[in-house]
Amino acid sequence: MYDYDLLVVGSANADMVIQVERRPAAGETVLGSDLVVHPGGKGANQAVAAARLGARTALLARVGDDAHGRLLLDAQRDAGVDTVGVLVGGASTGVALITVDPSGDNSIVVSPGANARLAAADIRAASSLLQASRVVSAQLEIPLETVVEVARNLPSGTRFVLNPSPPRTLPAEVLAACDPLIVNEHEARVIAGGERDGSPEDRAAALLALGPRSVVVTLGAEGALVATGEAMARVASVKVDAVDTTGAGDAFTAALAWRLGTGSSLLEAAAYAVRVGAAAVTHPGAQESFPTAEEVAAL
Ligand code: RIB
Repeated sequence: MYDYDLLVVGSANADMVIQVERRPAAGETVLGSDLVVHPGGKGANQAVAAARLGARTALLARVGDDAHGRLLLDAQRDAGVDTVGVLVGGASTGVALITVDPSGDNSIVVSPGANARLAAADIRAASSLLQASRVVSAQLEIPLETVVEVARNLPSGTRFVLNPSPPRTLPAEVLAACDPLIVNEHEARVIAGGERDGSPEDRAAALLALGPRSVVVTLGAEGALVATGEAMARVASVKVDAVDTTGAGDAFTAALAWRLGTGSSLLEAAAYAVRVGAAAVTHPGAQESFPTAEEVAAL
């Protein structure tokens, strides 16, 4: 009945990555490795992650008519993502400046470029893609008005998954559509407020009070917390040696969204997604690090 297991609406960036011994503090200059350019962006990453796991996936995004845009389109097509919804032109392709330290932690600054031109009208024009998709996921590297338009145009029966990254206050109509809202602890604090040392359970309860049907709080190496109006439960992660955490959250969101569409419960989907996220941190880069279903099973 559906052409796509997952439609990702979101950003596509060229990731400019430098390995550093230590991420610089304010006013500091550090020397790093040679620069490497990878395909990235939270939306494009989610689409590749889902397709690599076997999901029939489409991407609705905007890239520039430039070399970075072509790099991103090639990466999507190589992974098997349908790029019929990728618009080209209007501004240069988004760029992310990324430093990665020896523990695998990163710092990222994004220049949105064409991502900022993915407009509400582009969502209305893509209604056939929305109609054809079992699950729709989004993030916040595109304008908030565009995400609002996605929430307004969801066909009945289509599930909406939002990773509000980078975080900001969300309108009630977007929150009400989320099933689930997926946040890390920093994103949870920005959206729901609360004490700096509050527990993930406290944060999940505060987020649920804002209106989403369900909430998932990612806990890094500790796994994730799943919360609905009825229950809260933690799922443990797999212990791995982290090389680069870039894109692990995107892989988690994609895996969870896809599994929900296949009929898994939220708890089952999260348990699978933590394994996908764990596999993703064991290799450098974002999209290059995403596992196949066989690699997840072998973890
Ligand atoms: O989540 C990781 C992604 O964030 C990177 O690929 C970068 O492009 C930024 O969007």
